[in-house]
Amino acid sequence: MNLPLDLSTPNPASPRFIDQYGDASRLPSQSAQEELAAGLRAPQASIAPKYFYNALGSRLFEAITALDEYYPTRTEAGIFDKASADIAKAIAASGITHPCLIDLGAGNCAKSARLIPHLQPTQYVPVDISVDFLRGAAEQIQTTFPMLDIVGIGMDFSKGLTLPPAVQKQDRVFFYPGSSLGNFPPIEALAFLQQVSDADKGNARGLLLGIDLVKDKSVLEAAYDDALGVTAAFNKNVLLHVNTLMGSAFDVHQWRHVALFNEAESRIEMHLQAECNLTVRWPGGERRFLAGERIHTENSYKFTVDSMTDLLRKAGFSQVRCWTDADEWFAVFWAAV
Ligand code: AVJ
Repeated sequence: MNLPLDLSTPNPASPRFIDQYGDASRLPSQSAQEELAAGLRAPQASIAPKYFYNALGSRLFEAITALDEYYPTRTEAGIFDKASADIAKAIAASGITHPCLIDLGAGNCAKSARLIPHLQPTQYVPVDISVDFLRGAAEQIQTTFPMLDIVGIGMDFSKGLTLPPAVQKQDRVFFYPGSSLGNFPPIEALAFLQQVSDADKGNARGLLLGIDLVKDKSVLEAAYDDALGVTAAFNKNVLLHVNTLMGSAFDVHQWRHVALFNEAESRIEMHLQAECNLTVRWPGGERRFLAGERIHTENSYKFTVDSMTDLLRKAGFSQVRCWTDADEWFAVFWAAV
């Protein structure tokens, strides 16, 4: 196909990029090393799920979103396909006229790319801990919206929501899709939502939130243990990232992917289970694992519409609206401050 090149767009913008995190794979930070060592030494060893996202991890997660078993991404996209006009109206009805769309954990920016034509933001601010991956994604989405003001930010927003001055203060709409909130245990999820609703912290006018709903255990467990083994690769890749960050010597072959739904806690848990007795060493420490012992790598909490409505009100949002798919597998909330 030979399409004529469109040269009519005047002065297309290029994204600004602010790296507040540093590419952790090049500059292992002291605090990350300490956090990781403490997690590995604990009686129940753990690695925080944010460490999944090095450049390869972000690509593996992108592959997960294309799997048949992984319903959240396409179900959420279906809700936005149907309800985006309605959602944009709800946001406008909250008095927001010049939205600044702040995309928390933007990844490949695909979700915002669908929302932007409806929301027509004056500024788009993708935020992600996977700095190099985000850089590429910000450049990509700029080609789709050549005139949009884009400010990409590399940061670990689990540490706070203070954004640099380049981010528009007025009409901030935080976008937290994909059920990433589910990585926080309930108390931390509440604290995080309170931070968003606190006018002095993030200057938010509202939050557009996507969350996964409780459903049949077999559906949930298949979504986190797919037939192709992509989720297993995503889980094991955390060990390679940790090796880079702290100089440890994890051997991926010695670990098995485990995913299970913990009904009492209403969460999917992912673990890495030692296949044999082994010792992992890193500069300044080591940990012995017996065969069958696990490292807890992720919690992914599943909510109900009622539990999330309560949580948002508790967090200080005054107005809460919700859209779901027909099966009620996933929900999108608009919560105005
Ligand atoms: C990005 C946290 C929403 O919990 O479903 C996907 C991450 N882990 N498969 C999720 C994930 C395994 C995902 N979140």
